[in-house]
Amino acid sequence: MNERDSEILSQSLSQHDYIETMNIDSADLIILNTCSIRAKAEQKVMSLLGYLRKNKQRNPDLKICVAGCVAQQQGESLIERMPHVNLVIGTQHIYNIANLLKESEKISVVKTTLDKNYVIPSFIPDVQPVDSVVTDMVTQENEFSRFVTIMQGCNNYCTYCVVPYTRGREVSRKVKDIVEEVKVLVHSGVQEITLLGQNVNSYGMTNAVTDDGSPFAFNQLLREVSSISGLRRLRFTTSNPKDLSEDLMKCFVDLDNLCPQFHLPVQSGSNQILQRMNRKYTREKYLELVESLRRYCPEIALTTDIIVGFPGESTKDFMETMNLLETVRFHGSFSFKYSDRPGTASVKLNNKVSEEDKSERLAFFQKRQKEISLERNLEFLDKSLEVLVESCGEDSYKCRTKTNHVVHVDSTLPLTPGQLVNVKINHAGHHSLKGSALVGNRN
Ligand code: 5AD
Ligand code: SF4
Repeated sequence: MNERDSEILSQSLSQHDYIETMNIDSADLIILNTCSIRAKAEQKVMSLLGYLRKNKQRNPDLKICVAGCVAQQQGESLIERMPHVNLVIGTQHIYNIANLLKESEKISVVKTTLDKNYVIPSFIPDVQPVDSVVTDMVTQENEFSRFVTIMQGCNNYCTYCVVPYTRGREVSRKVKDIVEEVKVLVHSGVQEITLLGQNVNSYGMTNAVTDDGSPFAFNQLLREVSSISGLRRLRFTTSNPKDLSEDLMKCFVDLDNLCPQFHLPVQSGSNQILQRMNRKYTREKYLELVESLRRYCPEIALTTDIIVGFPGESTKDFMETMNLLETVRFHGSFSFKYSDRPGTASVKLNNKVSEEDKSERLAFFQKRQKEISLERNLEFLDKSLEVLVESCGEDSYKCRTKTNHVVHVDSTLPLTPGQLVNVKINHAGHHSLKGSALVGNRN
């Protein structure tokens, strides 16, 4: 979400004659787009802001703007702590960055109101054909793959999570704006689109997304986007297990360009902890969903998010998470130590787990996940897979499979970024695969 928000900030400003630079010391405007999901991310922002004080002393005309969730949560108090900041811009105001920068020319501005009737603006970026993008500007590493926001905010209130407070109530974007943006991107040469939202499965549930107000669910949106001519690969993230429907699973059977990959955060394998987290599903329900997904799409690669050391998590609860890992054998996972986030319900829960125990559990989980990821990667050995060439390194091409695995392709064939090509996998590591391009088999 944050990556796409950074792009929106940059695309909005380029429509007002701002030019991106890689060189922070020569910049006239620095925007920190921030994340406060875990304490560590927030600490990084504060130390970078402290560091930027020197840049401001060297260049008093420099404008510093803080956007994103830290901006949203801290508002005025951020300016009190960091008076060299010119603009604090909340999560519902990023499309208005150019006007707010003008307002902040003489005096610092804080714009962090959250409107419960917020409508995502119909913003279609000006995109250049991907092969004409100037390479010394800041561009996505892989220009052939783009994120498209389909919703903002969240109504789920998981007890550990700051998102409902920093991004506001859940609101879905209009179908026609999403479709138009995807068409513009595909027309410019983009091959792969990832639809983005905090909980894509509840798309269209909280507000009208069609002109006549008729209901339109996420699986319908997927079918609509999938049918856009020229779109080679379609992905989405993130899903909440409590809203995952059978209709969505069927899309993996029906839609050729929907990639067989699913990020399904489970957070914990213990029912007691899931309940304290307010996740609204059980371990058994989660395992049933995994089984159904695999029935519909046997090659699907599953990934997840895990929190270790949630308040009240006993060794037994943690071992249930380990047991769930052994049962599902995720292709990969993102795992975190629980951290208290301001304003969330879990701050008030007792039986906090010690830092030492959290670190130990995290290391234990990650060690086993790393082994399983390798075992999963070894399953690809000798297989022929279609990959999208993303970029060209010194001695290999960085490519991606439909299952979202990175493959380094050492090829004697001249491949071009953006090309789809078949490769044979000849090496599997913990984090990536290696393969060679198959002659005469290119798309
Ligand atoms: N502490 C630790 N991890 C968290 N996440 C969200 N909030 C917290 C928190 N307070 C993790 C969850 C979520 C991912 C994006 O970040 O696993 O799925
Ligand atoms: Fe946070 Fe839960 Fe919403 Fe995900 S579903 S953004 S974890 S509140």
